[in-house]
Amino acid sequence: MSGKNDNIVATGFDQSIALLEKSDSVHCVDIEEDQIQYGMFLKDLIEKGKFDEFLGQMNRTDDFADVYKAEYVLRNGYFSSDNERLDRIREKVKNLTLEKGDISDAIKRGGFNKAYLSNVVGCFGTGYDLLVKLMNVLDEKIPEGGLVYASNKRAFEGFRQEAIKKNDIKDSFVIDTCLTNKSDEIQKVDDNYIMSIKKSNYGWDPVIYAKSSK
Ligand SMILES: C[S@@+](CC[C@H](N)C(=O)[O-])C[C@H]1O[C@@H](n2cnc3c(N)ncnc32)[C@H](O)[C@@H]1O
Repeated sequence: MSGKNDNIVATGFDQSIALLEKSDSVHCVDIEEDQIQYGMFLKDLIEKGKFDEFLGQMNRTDDFADVYKAEYVLRNGYFSSDNERLDRIREKVKNLTLEKGDISDAIKRGGFNKAYLSNVVGCFGTGYDLLVKLMNVLDEKIPEGGLVYASNKRAFEGFRQEAIKKNDIKDSFVIDTCLTNKSDEIQKVDDNYIMSIKKSNYGWDPVIYAKSSK
């Protein structure tokens, strides 16, 4: 979901690095200091052209078993499916910035037309209140046509509809069904692969919203 003239605010480092390839800039925010330290480490690997080490992250700890290892195989497949992808990302790595903080505060400062929220809403007990805070700043700062991605549609959309009903947020985003379906398709391929390794229910549930003109 990235392209020229896109300035993206995101959480999740691999995703931020992937988004950087086609966008103008990515500002990656995480509320946890150790996450930011790890993000800086990954950025440094890219900056120095240490691609083998970047791709070898799945072997850095024995904790990566089953589903996590499978996700790393997919991650590495994406970054190495095109021989020059990591070189192109390296050329732009100065446009990747990192910040420890609340992503809604970063959005509030403005300057972004897209937001990659991963599962910030819903992880570690964050829920309704964070959704309300985020949707209000996104409503204020994201320009018409701007896009917002979340990786957990059921939870995110549930909170969003509840917040619209309670008048805690405006109904100023619509689900972009075309992009959501496309990202669902990509995700399904991944899920099938992961389930072939670990037979359990598994799956991200992506949704992409567009800022509407109403
Ligand atoms: C489960 S992880 C998902 C990120 C992961 N690397 C991925 O695959 O997308 C969710 C991340 O969101 C971060 N987080 C939670 N609430 C946040 C907030 N309000 N602002 C920024 N980051 C937040 C957490 O620290 C965590 O690193």
